Amino acid sequence: MSARLSNKIERIAICTGGGDAPGLNAVIRAVVLAAQRRKWECYGIRDGFNGLLLPERYRGNGLIRLDNEAVRGITHLGGTILGTTNRNNPLHFPITDKDGNVSEVDRSDELVHAFQLHQLDALISVGGDGSLAIANVLAQKGLRVIGVPKTIDNDLDRTVATFGFDTAVSFATEALDRLHTTAESHNRIMVVEVMGRYAGWIALHAGVAGTADVILIPEIPFDLNKVVEKINEREANERKFTIVVVAEGAKPIDGDISLLGTEIGHAERLGGIGAKVAVELAQMTNKDTRVVVLGHLLRGGSPTPHDRLLSLRFGAAAVRALAEGQSGIMVALDPPTVNYVPLEEATSRMKNVPLDCDTMLTAREVGICFGD
Ligand code: F6P
Repeated sequence: MSARLSNKIERIAICTGGGDAPGLNAVIRAVVLAAQRRKWECYGIRDGFNGLLLPERYRGNGLIRLDNEAVRGITHLGGTILGTTNRNNPLHFPITDKDGNVSEVDRSDELVHAFQLHQLDALISVGGDGSLAIANVLAQKGLRVIGVPKTIDNDLDRTVATFGFDTAVSFATEALDRLHTTAESHNRIMVVEVMGRYAGWIALHAGVAGTADVILIPEIPFDLNKVVEKINEREANERKFTIVVVAEGAKPIDGDISLLGTEIGHAERLGGIGAKVAVELAQMTNKDTRVVVLGHLLRGGSPTPHDRLLSLRFGAAAVRALAEGQSGIMVALDPPTVNYVPLEEATSRMKNVPLDCDTMLTAREVGICFGD
C-alpha cells in the first residue's frame, strides 16, 4: 500500500516509541514550536502507535492536539508527555485468539490508513532502533516520515550521539563517585550493573569518567580470572577496594548473556549479570562484595543541559527537514551540525563500541581492565 503524499503540509503527528529517555519532552517542545511557526497543526500520538492502532483505549481518538500551551515548561522534564511503549510493534502486532494463543500480524497498512483518515501529512517518529525500523517501513509505504534518534544506550548508527545518553552517563558517574567512598571504607568489591543491551557505551564512558577499575562490556566477552588478577594487583599496591562496572549485555567468554525473562511481543529482558559477577568474584577472592543495579534510574530524571540542547536541536531539525521536503531520513548529530541520514542506513546495523576508539585506548592507558 502506498500513501498519497500531499505536497502541502498542514497537520503533522509526533510519536515517542520504545524505552523512554531524558530529552523526549524537549524534542516534542521544539517540534511543536517550530511547526507552529510554519502554521502547521501538530498532534501527538499516545503511547507509541497505540493511539492510532488501539484508539478505543483512549478518550477521544488517541491523538492529543499539541499547541504552545501543551508544551509549556516541559524541556527539563524526564519521561514523555505522550507516553511510550515497547510493546505492540505495528509490524509484529500481537493478537490473542479465544483460546489464549498469541500470534503476530503486520498492521502497518492500517497505520498508514489511519494517517490518511486523520489527514495527517507527516510523522516525526522519536525512537531507538525498533521505532526507527518501523518509521523506515512507513516511509517506504509512502508516508512522509522523519526519525529522531533516541536511546540512553547510544547504540544507533550514523549519529555521533543519541539524546538521553549524556544524562545516563552523568547519573552513572555520580553513582560511581558515591560508591567509591563506601567501597574504600569497607575494603570491598563493588559491582555496578548499568544498562546497555548490545553496546557498552554507558559502561565505558561512566566507567572511565568515574575511574572504575574494571569495565565489562558486550563487545568483549570477559574472563573473571583476568578481573581477579587486576584485583590482586590492586591489593599488592595497598588498594583494598575495587569498582567493577558491568553492562547488562556483557557475557563471560564461556557463557551467555544474562536474561530475566522473555515475553511474547516484547524484547528479551536482560539483567542479573551484576549479581552473577559479584557472587563469583566473592568466591574467587574471598573479599566482601556488593552489587548495585542502576537499571531504570538511568532513564529517569531531568535531562542534562547537553541532552536538552541536543533534543531541541533534533526536534527543530526534524521540522526543517519536513519543510525542505525530506522523508525517510533521520536527523543525526555530525558535529558541529545536525545532518540528515537515510533511515535505511541508520537502522541497518548497531553502533557498537569500536575496540580501537580513543576512549577505549584511554581506558587501557590508565590501567582499566576489560576482563580480556
Ligand atoms: O534500550 C534502552 C534500554 O534501556 C536497554 O538498555 C534495556 O535493556 C531496556 O531499555 C529495558 O527496557 P524495559 O525495561 O523498558 O523493557
